[in-house]
Amino acid sequence: MIRVLITGGAGFIGSNYIHHALRVHPDWEIWNFDKLTYAGNLANLKDIEQDARYHFVKGDIADAAAVAAVMKNGIELIINFAAESHVDRSIKGSQEFLMTGVLGVQTLLDAAKEHGAKLFYQISTDEVYGDVEAGQYSTEADILRPSSPYSAAKAAGDLLVLAYARTHGVPVIISRCTNNYGPHQYPEKMLALFVTNLLENKHVPLYGDGQQIRDWLHVDDHCRAIDLLLDKGRRGEVYNVGANHQPELTNLQVTRLILDELKADAAMIDFVTDRPGHDRRYAVDTAKVSVLGWKPLVAPEEGLRRTVRWYKDNPDWWRPIKSGEFLKYYQEQYRKSPSSSHPSFPRQSSGQAGRRGV
Ligand code: NAD
Ligand code: TYD
Repeated sequence: MIRVLITGGAGFIGSNYIHHALRVHPDWEIWNFDKLTYAGNLANLKDIEQDARYHFVKGDIADAAAVAAVMKNGIELIINFAAESHVDRSIKGSQEFLMTGVLGVQTLLDAAKEHGAKLFYQISTDEVYGDVEAGQYSTEADILRPSSPYSAAKAAGDLLVLAYARTHGVPVIISRCTNNYGPHQYPEKMLALFVTNLLENKHVPLYGDGQQIRDWLHVDDHCRAIDLLLDKGRRGEVYNVGANHQPELTNLQVTRLILDELKADAAMIDFVTDRPGHDRRYAVDTAKVSVLGWKPLVAPEEGLRRTVRWYKDNPDWWRPIKSGEFLKYYQEQYRKSPSSSHPSFPRQSSGQAGRRGV
């Protein structure tokens, strides 16, 4: 058996990856090491918790003693999904982002070095490149120009990973993936937020003019890309992963697709004040991973349809999340100004938007 440590496995991508890995790697025994922050949810893993090849350990990747204890299970491969992952939260407070994204990564790298792990695989993001001019594509050799505290923490993590590879000879791979979507995504991220808001008959808050571009990749495709890189990726290298949608999709276009899927009216869109430092466009050059044989399999229309259906069919998963801590966050993030009837994120185009429910 190959003994694998998956950190952050109770979150969106990590839990999808654990399901995928148990299916396609019968020779893997998995330890899911997760701090269970607000975004970590063991309900994501309920159907596999009795699987003899799966173990859950609650812990913080920045806690060296806890990491050393889990490594004693003879871990050979570490795949690090753990991170504070939401840009808007990083703007409100950055410390946790650095604790996990920098000190946590350093702690895991020390453990990989000390225990002689065969590979440390860092899950990173295209956001480390910052925004990209129309017609340009970020390559793995580009300089990092992160715009948000979230992406700065991820960029710092990537640099540490490469430094440990060079200085200590730790075998590493980094993949930088574009925006993911799919089941079990915490409903603070745009796609999950908009779908669940509409299912609750609430408006959807679109930042700025909605012309920002993201290269949405279904989480199943991301899981397959990780496996390909585990198998064929060169140690010490960085690989971009993305869908390369042509034509590119603006946030407004994605929102319209969601509205169509749910047969909702365009009046449900509230154009709200832009996110500070909002990156206009992300686009990655995926030639390097494509040479290894990777291409996305989930077409955007099909992926979106499947995803909308999943949230429709699983209100028991997301409804409890959208109360309590989430509600407090949501009201603060999208609050109405006390001095007026407008949201503090006032609408920029009043033509389409109604007033209910943001
Ligand atoms: P998520 O917020 O849904 O899940 C993060 C998980 O990490 C949670 O289970 C949380 O409890 C855990 N965690 C946080 N801090 C921890 C710590 N200190 N120790 C142990 N566990 C901790 O995030 P996600 O969307 O699944 O993203 C997973 C990874 O993929 C992140 O590294 C993120 O930067 C990267 N990524 C995400 C996207 C995306 O679109 N969501 C795109 C590219 C890359
Ligand atoms: P998000 O899902 O937060 O991912 P990221 O910021 O990591 O790309 O946001 C995706 C896009 O959607 C981004 O351009 C910001 C935009 N967005 C909105 O317009 N409204 C929202 O309420 C949120 C959360 C995001």
